[in-house]
Amino acid sequence: MTEFEDTGEALALADSEASLARTQRRSRELETQIAARPEQFRMLTGDRPTGLLHIGHYFGSITNRVRLFDLGVDTFILIADYQVITDRDGVGPIADRVINAVADYVAAGLDPAKATIFTHSAVPALNQLMLPFLSLVTEAELRRNPTVKSELEATGDRPMSGLLLTYPVHQAADILFCKANVVPVGKDQLPHLEQTRVVARRFDERYGRVDPARPVFPQAEALLAERAVTILGLDGTKMSKSKGNVIELGMDADTTARLIKKAVTDSDRHITYDPDARPGVSNLVNLAALATGRTPEDVAAEIGDGGAGTLKKFVTEALNERLRPHREKRAELMADPAYLHAVLRQGNEKANAVADQTLAEVRTAMQMVY
Ligand code: TRP
Repeated sequence: MTEFEDTGEALALADSEASLARTQRRSRELETQIAARPEQFRMLTGDRPTGLLHIGHYFGSITNRVRLFDLGVDTFILIADYQVITDRDGVGPIADRVINAVADYVAAGLDPAKATIFTHSAVPALNQLMLPFLSLVTEAELRRNPTVKSELEATGDRPMSGLLLTYPVHQAADILFCKANVVPVGKDQLPHLEQTRVVARRFDERYGRVDPARPVFPQAEALLAERAVTILGLDGTKMSKSKGNVIELGMDADTTARLIKKAVTDSDRHITYDPDARPGVSNLVNLAALATGRTPEDVAAEIGDGGAGTLKKFVTEALNERLRPHREKRAELMADPAYLHAVLRQGNEKANAVADQTLAEVRTAMQMVY
């Protein structure tokens, strides 16, 4: 494996400030290109079904995906079921979570007749790509992946599984099987994007091409949101289902109101937007801003001396109002599980057709057609 250039540093760099600034600039350019020629773009992105989708997903990624879909970008949404088992012992109530995710994507506006919504486990050829891809990365490189490192830290004393170490290569297969060229993600995923580009490049160098004019795999680019949305749990700490601080998209208006009532604030009656000094209050201000399409500063100024009570009432109404159409639609969909299963089956069929085609090219490039 010595002939590979050492990309450990490149991967670590993908995590650095300078590289982040560069990716943000590039994302702005990409946005302009997408708006001008949406038909030239295929996006692949997705979620791990480790729980039900919540308002963090909604404002952080789902609305952005729907925006790109509405612009006319070819859309692949992966429900990353095999990625659930990278860092936990069991799968949990996964079938239910997957169906709920399908309901949320469709309710949010991803038309399943056009968007491809699919799961890892149903697409054998995608998973098979991981095998040749694993030949293109070194163990040392994977150990230096900042995202793997921080996930390993988050799992405490739990020993690292082979899958946790190598899942960035599986994620490369997620992106490359459909030759996606744009991947809307948060910055925590940038090392995976860099790893994906490295795999694509090395595949070309080592195994060659089918069409001499172009590599089998394109270079996929991250698309970062113009303004990163960070939503905390209602206690002002990181969202986590076990802490009960999360508002799921499927919750009703009363449950939402009850959770917001219990949200942690502070004793200063004057409401301001100051995420560092006042995480609890600022998180609620931010939620109200996201739900109404206003700026956090504007919302804070309106509440002024009204105190936490007024703020909570404002957030509750704004959020319930904003989510009402989504919730109505998702409830309708959840009442028809046969339809949701059909949506997923159709997405899986489309993903399989694309993956089979890509795997055939890979076999051809690798001279493994017998
Ligand atoms: N790792 C991503 C997350 O935790 C989910 C994911 C899996 C993904 N495969 C992907 C995102 C491919 C973008 C592209 O959020």
